[in-house]
Amino acid sequence: MSSTEPPRSTPPTGNVQLPLGQRTVDWSTHAGRPAVELIDQTALPDVERLLRLTTVDEVVDAIQRLAVRGAPAIGVAGGLGVALAAVTISDPAARDAAVAALRDARPTAVNLARAVDRVAAVLPDGPQRTLAEALAIRDEEIASSDSMAAYGVDLIGELCGAEPRLLTHCNTGGLATVTGGTALGVVFALHRAGRLGGVVASETRPLLQGARLTTWELGRAQIPFRVAVDGAGPFLIARGEVDAVIIGADRICANGDVVNKIGSYAHALGAARAGVPFVVVAPESTVDRQTPDGGAVEIEDRGSAELAPNLPAANPAFDVTPFDLVTAVVTDRRVVRFAAGQTWDDIPLGPLRS
Ligand code: MRU
Repeated sequence: MSSTEPPRSTPPTGNVQLPLGQRTVDWSTHAGRPAVELIDQTALPDVERLLRLTTVDEVVDAIQRLAVRGAPAIGVAGGLGVALAAVTISDPAARDAAVAALRDARPTAVNLARAVDRVAAVLPDGPQRTLAEALAIRDEEIASSDSMAAYGVDLIGELCGAEPRLLTHCNTGGLATVTGGTALGVVFALHRAGRLGGVVASETRPLLQGARLTTWELGRAQIPFRVAVDGAGPFLIARGEVDAVIIGADRICANGDVVNKIGSYAHALGAARAGVPFVVVAPESTVDRQTPDGGAVEIEDRGSAELAPNLPAANPAFDVTPFDLVTAVVTDRRVVRFAAGQTWDDIPLGPLRS
């Protein structure tokens, strides 16, 4: 966009054809005006556009209506939101309220509260230091994606051999992180290495993160795919069309229970029944050692409006896959195979890989 364009707090509209490698969420000082800039994921795949958010309220709203989504991405957006609070809100009470609103925008992914708390802790050191902390989280997530891909490619090769056919759920690519991805980052890396046998994108009811967003990312990477309704996943696995399920996570508890997009548990049951590996890929920033197990996690319910307006609805956005259905968890620093009674403390951190 031209540098003569006037500052605005309303989003640019229309199809701007996002370049490959565009960061999902970032800090921007367009025309000297600080902003959180992000890809509007509610508009994809039909419209590619950036939102330029100049108030904390706009960032909170973007997180709540899933314009930015995915555990690492909302963590980065929340951290940058605190940096925006530091430069735009001078009254301490109002700033505290803005930070609390960011922290509480969505309850389930641990990345959001964690990033907001981390950046808020340096608010007393001033706006520059606050922004530096938020940008550090952004950069750490970018490095994490590269590392998860390296660990994940090795593990999938070990578990499945050559050219695995993978089933994935929700969107776990660059859109859910900053660039790269978690589970989908492993799929991209396998493809780049010429070692991918195929990929099924589970559509992910009701907001279609799989059918809209994962297929958009796979298409841009020129990776052939099939999309399937969520209920088809366990049957495709049973029919021998899937060599491994690979998903991300919004929170992984102390005992290894995995909280992820609703529908993940059904794929895990199907995989266990068929003896197919079920692999979870998530950065260390998604590991929550303070929460003992999945039963202790607040599962966001998004109500009936997104599912069946005017009908009473049960609409949990996430489910819990118990640790004993998970073959392995791949993070940016280790591969963990949980056994009963084992915790994260039992497995040492390894190096970041690239
Ligand atoms: O409700 P969403 O779209 O934010 O849910 C996202 C997921 O469940 C992803 O699978 C998860 O964040 C892991 S990918 C980084």
